[in-house]
Amino acid sequence: MSEWNPPRFNASCFVNPRLSPAETSLAAAAPGVVDEEGFARAVAEITRWPDYRPTPLVPLPGLAKTLGIGRLYYKDESGRFGLGAFKALGGAYAVLRHLQNVLGDEVTAADLVAGKYRARTSGITVTAATDGNHGKAVAWGARLFGCRAVIYLHQDVSEGRAQAIAAYGAEIRRIADNYDASVRACATDAAENGWQVISDTSWDGYQDVPRHVMHGYGVMLKEMLDQIPRGEELTHVFIQAGVGGLPAAVAGYLWLELDALRPKIVVVEPEKAACHYASAEAGHPVTVTGKLDTLMAGLACGEVSPLAWRLLDAAGFAFLKIPDDAAIFAMKTLAAGQSDDPPIVGGEAGVGGLAGLIAAAGDAEIKDSLLLTGQSRVLVIGSEGATDPVLYRQWVGRKPEDVLAA
Ligand SMILES: Cc1ncc(COP(=O)(O)O)c(C=O)c1O
Repeated sequence: MSEWNPPRFNASCFVNPRLSPAETSLAAAAPGVVDEEGFARAVAEITRWPDYRPTPLVPLPGLAKTLGIGRLYYKDESGRFGLGAFKALGGAYAVLRHLQNVLGDEVTAADLVAGKYRARTSGITVTAATDGNHGKAVAWGARLFGCRAVIYLHQDVSEGRAQAIAAYGAEIRRIADNYDASVRACATDAAENGWQVISDTSWDGYQDVPRHVMHGYGVMLKEMLDQIPRGEELTHVFIQAGVGGLPAAVAGYLWLELDALRPKIVVVEPEKAACHYASAEAGHPVTVTGKLDTLMAGLACGEVSPLAWRLLDAAGFAFLKIPDDAAIFAMKTLAAGQSDDPPIVGGEAGVGGLAGLIAAAGDAEIKDSLLLTGQSRVLVIGSEGATDPVLYRQWVGRKPEDVLAA
């Protein structure tokens, strides 16, 4: 891609007046959301699963220069367990923890994969409502560990994403309404049928499972800290939010690991589904209504996960909402590769954080309020690859395999 200046998108930024001071501990600021023990157990489990491999952390010096920052790192989750997104770490881990709850904590993932308890696990049903990736993770986990999955999809989940979930043997149920309605339908049917809901969002009396999901995401952060060059302290993470489990896991893990040296967390959302932004402005969880029809499908959530929100309210340095065209621009930018940067395939929701960074870099006022400078060292997490290749081609103009072959 030739030289360009960061374009100006119609983005809005809210700097969090309730951000905890650097010296406050996570346990004091947001007790009971995530903890070291939970992350450590998830890391020990997941890194022993078949085909576990760390995903790459890709430096993008060309794009960093164009954006006027010091360093930019892209944690590319497109290859995670062959599922195309980071979500495998959360949904599948929560399925495992549920089976261990039922069968006993001494039951290992290896036992389950080997089918040692198949007679019992085949009678267990897990269920989830999803924008696509979480449901795929639950379906994959159910197949890996030998139980049944029923997955609820709202009206805007593409047919390609539905088929990708069905391919893991899950039963699919379509709800002719938005994401939040699919969450409620899933919960109602689960209560009637005695199924276990494996949700990435939380509600009153339902916190253990979403906490496991967040702890599972810790694997990604552990890898990232191992991969980042020594002595290079991150100043910012731009991280996309749906219900908030991903940004809360990122913020929580880095707070526990880095304490006062933790980077600024900038939570990025599509303007059509900016429930964290609205909640941050209000100072309490606020529901965003409407169709939530952003093309960043994985981020199309109108309600924050209250568990995640508690942490983000204390840990989010700022909240940023961006239009859909910023995501398309980020997808094309990654595909083209800036200067000598390698071409990368990032999906619509996957590039949310990068799209937020590009939008911030193109807006002097936002850039200033986020304290982004030529010295900033920024991490973004590419949380999905081309999870719907047909849509990817529509937005980028090229097939994902052609981008990678370039
Ligand atoms: C690719 C992708 N990125 C980010 C997110 C946001 O994660 P969370 O809903 O935990 O905030 C999702 C959620 O489905 C997703 O699919």
